[in-house]
Amino acid sequence: MKAIVFDHPGEPENVLVFRNISPPTPTAEQVLIRVSARPIQPADFLFIQGRYRIQPEFPQAAGLEGVGTIISCGAGVSSLEVGDRVAFRSKGTWAECAIAPTSRVYPVPPEIPDSVACQFSLNPLTAWGLLDECNLKVSSRILATAGRSVVARLLAHLAKQRGLTPTLLVRDKGRYSALNESYQVIANGANVAQTLEKVVNHHGEFHAALDPVGGSDIVALINALAPKSRLISYGILDDTDITLKASQILFRSVTWQGFGIDGWLDSLSKEKLSIAQEQLWNLLSASPELLPVADSFGLNDIQQAIVSAKKPAQSGKALFVD
Ligand SMILES: NC(=O)c1ccc[n+]([C@@H]2O[C@H](COP(=O)([O-])OP(=O)(O)OC[C@H]3O[C@@H](n4cnc5c(N)ncnc54)[C@H](OP(=O)(O)O)[C@@H]3O)[C@@H](O)[C@H]2O)c1
Repeated sequence: MKAIVFDHPGEPENVLVFRNISPPTPTAEQVLIRVSARPIQPADFLFIQGRYRIQPEFPQAAGLEGVGTIISCGAGVSSLEVGDRVAFRSKGTWAECAIAPTSRVYPVPPEIPDSVACQFSLNPLTAWGLLDECNLKVSSRILATAGRSVVARLLAHLAKQRGLTPTLLVRDKGRYSALNESYQVIANGANVAQTLEKVVNHHGEFHAALDPVGGSDIVALINALAPKSRLISYGILDDTDITLKASQILFRSVTWQGFGIDGWLDSLSKEKLSIAQEQLWNLLSASPELLPVADSFGLNDIQQAIVSAKKPAQSGKALFVD
């Protein structure tokens, strides 16, 4: 089968090649899927660079999620059937076919198009999981950084549904603004600390901050939190060193935790996962624009797809289709 493959870690534009590889064979608890669409996510680039928690095994087909139709089931699979249309997460989705463990396969409602379904297994479940980890009371205030990202927008919608008050922190040419859930500016400033100080002075401290950026602005996020609240780091968009005094965490009893989708799913009950799926499919059926698509490419169009995915202020995800 045709696939986008890399033989060593590196920058995607340098190491990815389109070539034939043998199709994988599903083991007892896996299914084989004919893939029809796959998004290009920040995590895909980290995986190709060898900087992700899931490590490649060479030669490795790229891609970590997608949507498609099951074409064969392992001997121990009873909950899924050949012909089922499913969203899924596993290594090697930028290929004609991929295998996935049944625990990472999600049946897709018929009204959901491939362009939305192919993005289901990472960002929507992450947004749901982050809010679940926060376990906040109604009307608590949450801060989501990288506020124009897909995850942050999903967070804002889900938070509002739960009666929470979300604030999104966005950057505009190096300056920062804080937006409410309707994307109206509630404060702006030259840097993150200054912007958050204004928000806290006018609207109060946050009860949780959800951050995929990292870097030195972490200190400003911690300073904007109420005592006994929580900062969750879930990305490394800025992976530079941080200087932090223990007293900044200690005196205000702040909890700083990490979140990874796979670790969270591993510890999630089946009941909670089905609630998450039902709520998210309902949300995406009503608001498919929460998972926007900027452009679609064939699997052999690697370079153009990467350029599209890396564009700053991109309006949606680049997809590989068929
Ligand atoms: N831990 C997990 O399991 C998990 C799961 C899903 C996603 N993630 C992470 O969540 C993040 C968002 O994913 P996504 O797919 O929603 O992203 P996305 O839609 O591609 O958007 C990325 C956003 O990040 C912002 N950004 C990039 N570099 C930045 C920096 N140095 N400082 C501040 N903002 C920066 C961009 O801002 P501009 O608009 O200003 O360019 C853009 O809004 C990624 O880091 C991803 O790896 C983690």
